[in-house]
Amino acid sequence: MDLKQSTEWQRLTEHSKQIEKKHLYEMFQQDKQRHERFSFRNEDLFIDFSKQRIVPETLTLLTNLARSKGLEGKIDDLFEGQHVNTFEDRPALHSALRLPKHRSLILDGQDIVDDIHSQLTHMEHLVNRLHRAQARGHSGRPIRNVVHIGVGGSDLGPLMTNRALCDYPCPASHPLEVFFVSSMDGSQLSLLLRKLEPAETLFVIASKSFTTLDTLANAETAKDWIMERSNVSEELVLQNHFIGISANPQKMTEFGIREDNQLLFWEWVGGRYSMWSCIGFPIALQIGFPRFCELLAGAHCMDEHFRSAPLEKNIPVLMALIGIWNINFLDIHAHAVLPYDGRLARFPAYLEQLEMESNGKHTTLDQKNVDYSTCPIIWGEIGPNAQHAFYQLLHQGTEKVMCDFIAPARRYNDIEEQKGSEILRKQHILALSNCFAQSRVLAFGDHALPKVDDVPYYKRYSGNQPSTTILLDELTPFALGQLIALYEHKVYTQSVIWNINPFDQWGVELGKIMAGETLAVLHGNHFLKEQMDMSTLKLINETLGLQDT
Ligand code: F6P
Repeated sequence: MDLKQSTEWQRLTEHSKQIEKKHLYEMFQQDKQRHERFSFRNEDLFIDFSKQRIVPETLTLLTNLARSKGLEGKIDDLFEGQHVNTFEDRPALHSALRLPKHRSLILDGQDIVDDIHSQLTHMEHLVNRLHRAQARGHSGRPIRNVVHIGVGGSDLGPLMTNRALCDYPCPASHPLEVFFVSSMDGSQLSLLLRKLEPAETLFVIASKSFTTLDTLANAETAKDWIMERSNVSEELVLQNHFIGISANPQKMTEFGIREDNQLLFWEWVGGRYSMWSCIGFPIALQIGFPRFCELLAGAHCMDEHFRSAPLEKNIPVLMALIGIWNINFLDIHAHAVLPYDGRLARFPAYLEQLEMESNGKHTTLDQKNVDYSTCPIIWGEIGPNAQHAFYQLLHQGTEKVMCDFIAPARRYNDIEEQKGSEILRKQHILALSNCFAQSRVLAFGDHALPKVDDVPYYKRYSGNQPSTTILLDELTPFALGQLIALYEHKVYTQSVIWNINPFDQWGVELGKIMAGETLAVLHGNHFLKEQMDMSTLKLINETLGLQDT
């Protein structure tokens, strides 16, 4: 039966008519236990849904909807390796990447946990060699700089994580710096090539497919740069300055990366879910392999919770269902992600891919058009900075927006370098006070003030913008692992309700084909040129006209 025709959906629609009339302010007045009722803890993570526009009945109706869609069984399917990636007919087993060594998971007659841990061991070996200055460039000098080249899922996870965990000192006995390059136009690479020493630089080419043009273009430039600057053979450069990470060993070999410098993962790992595999190499380089394992352990802890907690207490499930409530019943189609910690600056970008590439879809599993909304527009920024930029719209605009506030409760406490850092701790408390104040104003608007009668209209706040606050005890590898897995499972839960496949991304393919054709036209292909629309043709002609000037 169509989702919207189901009794559970219709009950929610009826229920939403009552809730639409209620203000969050009234909900707090009427239920003094909301903050207890709607907040949950899982290990190092505390989550408060009480500023969402829900009452207890809302969650009952939402969990009924989830049960009617067979969510519990679908969660088992995910973890057991069923082909939940339907259109590509394969499992999505990113959760297996964080299984401890003693566990096993048989896929096609093979224990994949053995394979996973053997690749992790290989990765640990390469990390240790670099940390101990045993990895050397063509001239025998130790490698000091590592440039990770990848894009999308082969970039955003490690990039976000290395920034998030930047307080953790690199355990290398000799200094090592890790850089990231993703942009197709070469602008990031060009900045690095100006300052790095080729003989001391290692390039890590990360690409699940090893066919992504952006990544291969940067890799080729990097190779040519070392050859040109050092005047050594291509073979020597590839042998000593390139590591590959991919699910396609053949392509890595064709590129020239030697086998012992190849790190593998598998087709059943979605690109945007791959940071737990050897794609996490730059994370282990920056924080050390044992801490990388803590990140995996945090995600595994969230996996166990998602797999075993009843829906009513299951944090990713509740987060997903509340999202569905906002999108499909309260008509909210914008979602702001607002970390109150500069180290989480790249977290919104990471989530943009995770959520929008997974659930930004209109085709159901039975290949029909949905007649309901799916993934909203997600964007974000470091919260305090966004206060001085787009919060005006959140507070007084015409769009309804749901927000996720994310912050660590404690900072500048435990890390060796930061000990006694009283001054900085004050700044952390300042940021937290802003975080809590903003969610309060968004929820209650003018009601947050004792008296508003004589305040002019342009200074008034209507409030009733829903938000969730996620507090990490501290931004540790473990807590970050929990946080990321929380969002991964939220995405899966929503996909089950919406009846869409969150593990493919066909929407990005046509653009790649068109880019190939356009490139051919830019290089003089007249046949394809004649098939171009006039707008694109004009842009091409303008560009060509300027090339030689
Ligand atoms: O084009 C989209 C995409 O395929 C993403 O899904 C993926 O994360 C990214 O490109 C990079 O792909 P690859 O890891 O194969 O280079």
